Amino acid sequence: MSQLLRLFLAIALGLASLVHSYSDPGSCTGACWAHDPSIIQRASDGKYFKFNTGTGIEIATADSLAGPWTLQGYVLASGSSIDNPGKNDPWAPDVHLVGEEYYLYYAVSEFGSQVSAIGLATSPTMQPGTWTDQGGVGVVSKKGQAYNAIDPNLVAVGSDYYLNFGSFWGDIYQVKLNSAATKATSAATHNIEYDSAGTRPCEGSYMFFYNNYYYLLWSHGICCGYDKTLPAPGDEYRIMMCRSKTATGGFLDQNGVACTASGGSILLESHGSVYGPGGQGVFTDSSKELVLYYHYANKSIGLGDGDYRFGWNVLNWSTDGWPQV
Ligand SMILES: *[C@@H]1O[C@H](CO)[C@@H](O)[C@H](O)[C@H]1NC(C)=O
Ligand SMILES: *[C@@H]1O[C@H](CO)[C@@H](O)[C@H](O)[C@H]1NC(C)=O
Repeated sequence: MSQLLRLFLAIALGLASLVHSYSDPGSCTGACWAHDPSIIQRASDGKYFKFNTGTGIEIATADSLAGPWTLQGYVLASGSSIDNPGKNDPWAPDVHLVGEEYYLYYAVSEFGSQVSAIGLATSPTMQPGTWTDQGGVGVVSKKGQAYNAIDPNLVAVGSDYYLNFGSFWGDIYQVKLNSAATKATSAATHNIEYDSAGTRPCEGSYMFFYNNYYYLLWSHGICCGYDKTLPAPGDEYRIMMCRSKTATGGFLDQNGVACTASGGSILLESHGSVYGPGGQGVFTDSSKELVLYYHYANKSIGLGDGDYRFGWNVLNWSTDGWPQV
């Protein structure tokens, strides 16, 4: 890209962020580091659990989203049983209550590699030491495949379960799981989001249902290493969205452009001291409000992966039914 074009883009993005103002993240105290966080409230006592990518998947707990968060331990302290490169550093936890048990889907991969697999760990309480590694769920990828089997996200549709995942390479895919949500029913996958531009940097999807629509969120751009190489403005992580009346396809953005044809509207991007928000999810708080959570770098604190912060906002809704921060 020419310097002039880059400058123009920087000005245009600056103007766009003046037009759209985002709320700052809610406050956070204690163990507020985050990377691809997954948040869930335990059904038995309402305690909040926060899981992070890295070192066997960190478990932190708190009595409110704002903290104070306390680090409790790890889900897979000695790594995953999936015998792939990266097995000691499972990624991108996605936690749900399935029946009476907590299911945590994770990915085993290495940065920039397509040799990847998705695994599952289960626990009755989510406490450290209670997790059983169930191994792979039958969603794998290797070099040259259309997708990368990372960043799992479970979605329940009635009594059916689907796993969304990916990617970079061919972006976001979906596979149907069995009725126990433990294995893919077949190797048949289909694409639900694809951006043909550049390196097709879409990953970390999250789907939720609200008011007749399935909303598909994903992270677009470069996730990491901002302290080493600062991406061109707009190339850092941001949170994108599309929606559909069905969970399995037909996702459109706010302009009616298909998600599989490079569509996507911005839900949250860098603003103020918030840089590169992504790795997001959404959950219904016990107060019944829908909460968006994510990680971001605070430009006043530091841009390194180890500096990322836990961000959350109660979602607001536009009159035509799109979430807003
Ligand atoms: C960023 O960090 C500064 C300095 O600690 C703090 O004042 C500010 O509230 C933080 N902003 C966000 C969005 O985290
Ligand atoms: C939500 O929208 C209402 C009405 O536009 C506004 O008053 C309120 O400040 C918004 N809340 C947040 C958290 O953005």
